[in-house]
Amino acid sequence: MQARRKRSLSRREFLKRSGMAGLGGLALTVGAGALRREPRAFAQPGSAGTREFHLEARQVRWELAPGKRIKAMTYNGQVPGPALRLHEGERVRVVFTNALAEPTTLHWHGVDVPNAMDGVPGLTQKPVAPGETFVYEFEARPAGTRWYHTHFDSVTQLDLGLYAPLIIEPAQPDPFPFNREYTLVLDDWSTRSSLALPRTVEGTARAQGSMGGMMGGMMGQGMGGMMECMMGRGGMRGGMMMGGGRTPAYDTMTINGKAYPATAPLMVRKGERVRLRLINASADHTHIVRLAGHRLQVTHTDGNPLEQPVDVDAVPITPSERYDVQFVADHPGAWFLSCAEPGHARAGEQVRVIYKGHENASPVAPAGAVTDLQAWHYGLGQGRTMLPSPSGQEHTFDLTLSGGMMGSDAWTINGQQYPEVDPLRLRRGDLARVRFLNHSMEAHPMHLHGQSFRVLSLNGQPLARPLVKDSIDVEAHMGAVEVELVASNPGDWLLHCHKPMHMEGGMMTLVQIS
Ligand code: C2O
Ligand code: CU
Repeated sequence: MQARRKRSLSRREFLKRSGMAGLGGLALTVGAGALRREPRAFAQPGSAGTREFHLEARQVRWELAPGKRIKAMTYNGQVPGPALRLHEGERVRVVFTNALAEPTTLHWHGVDVPNAMDGVPGLTQKPVAPGETFVYEFEARPAGTRWYHTHFDSVTQLDLGLYAPLIIEPAQPDPFPFNREYTLVLDDWSTRSSLALPRTVEGTARAQGSMGGMMGGMMGQGMGGMMECMMGRGGMRGGMMMGGGRTPAYDTMTINGKAYPATAPLMVRKGERVRLRLINASADHTHIVRLAGHRLQVTHTDGNPLEQPVDVDAVPITPSERYDVQFVADHPGAWFLSCAEPGHARAGEQVRVIYKGHENASPVAPAGAVTDLQAWHYGLGQGRTMLPSPSGQEHTFDLTLSGGMMGSDAWTINGQQYPEVDPLRLRRGDLARVRFLNHSMEAHPMHLHGQSFRVLSLNGQPLARPLVKDSIDVEAHMGAVEVELVASNPGDWLLHCHKPMHMEGGMMTLVQIS
């Protein structure tokens, strides 16, 4: 009962606040104070071995590509915000100031923070009001590619750029050594200045694997054409049948806040093993990353190392997922790394990979149809045993995902819309199986706060070695995923779809660990 009172902002409150976002222009004056801090000097040694960072949310004009300037919300004036690089186990203090004209919070996605530091407005903290400062403190764990982002009015704020990488270096040597690394954050933008792209509706699973790849590819093409008809070229008003009445029409795709040709080239040297940390910060779109002339080896899922790398041509990434991949720089020249989803590369989602000495070569784009690619899918990876062992009771929860009927923006879990939900109640040490079943016509990337889970099965097929993840795509039309978690981090944790329109449309529930 007490938890019920602590419950988050109501959905109505969320929607009301998202309406306020239009007044965001005011933030420019408030944000001016930020100039006192150098963006590069934001990390400072804190007291008693605590590392201190200063972040400020503020609105700026951001150039996605030459001539394409938009209103963005940023951390320290940049999109993505500054990458925080931490060492596993170290204590971190983030002094966060809100220079926006609206409230906001910081959430540490994939980090096992104490509940009070989780950044969920109305549940774990009061929203940070304009002009206010909030101090986040936690230990950096587990190791891996994580990220941080706003958890307030995500429909507006996440979409406008309030996100950044958070990299936790492992205390033990990394199981997959490399010579050089880059972090690439992928995002979709609605600028209303270009042709709208087809939405990702089906999800990744059907676009994965060789057989699945074929079907997914065909559906992708067909769906693209269909969506274009339904939406009209460049027009919007989301699909009538697909739900997502208010989902913006995304037209520009970025890598690290820039659309090609503004993307910063990745320089490599022959013989190097290059690690790419891929983060999908998109509101709606899955991306399929591939690199011309090279195979990719998947080494980590949502930051967690696999038993062995998995060799593929392409890696589909659903919103909020992360994959670490490596490639061996053994084909000197200039190549494009790009997204294989229809229209995405053209909409900006490509970057040059240039070998030293080949700066003037014209870059080669990936060849061949998406349908022929061998793509990563959940069934290919072998996870490591890295979560605690259960010591309590076993529970099974069935969560049916529905909504979006006839263009509605109402989305539910077991027919309930957050905050009017029945929480999943656990005690520390309990083992919980959660079975997601998707009754809706859109895919849902489901994310759990506070701790990771194991992925046991996909559409009825058990995984030989469960992957460790914190976000999992449950594909459209009866997609089924079974995950398992050992309750280890006490508190009230959100379990929700990571598409902002869906989460704020109600597709969130609570896992309460006492
Ligand atoms: Cu990426 Cu509820 O968060
Ligand atoms: Cu969803």
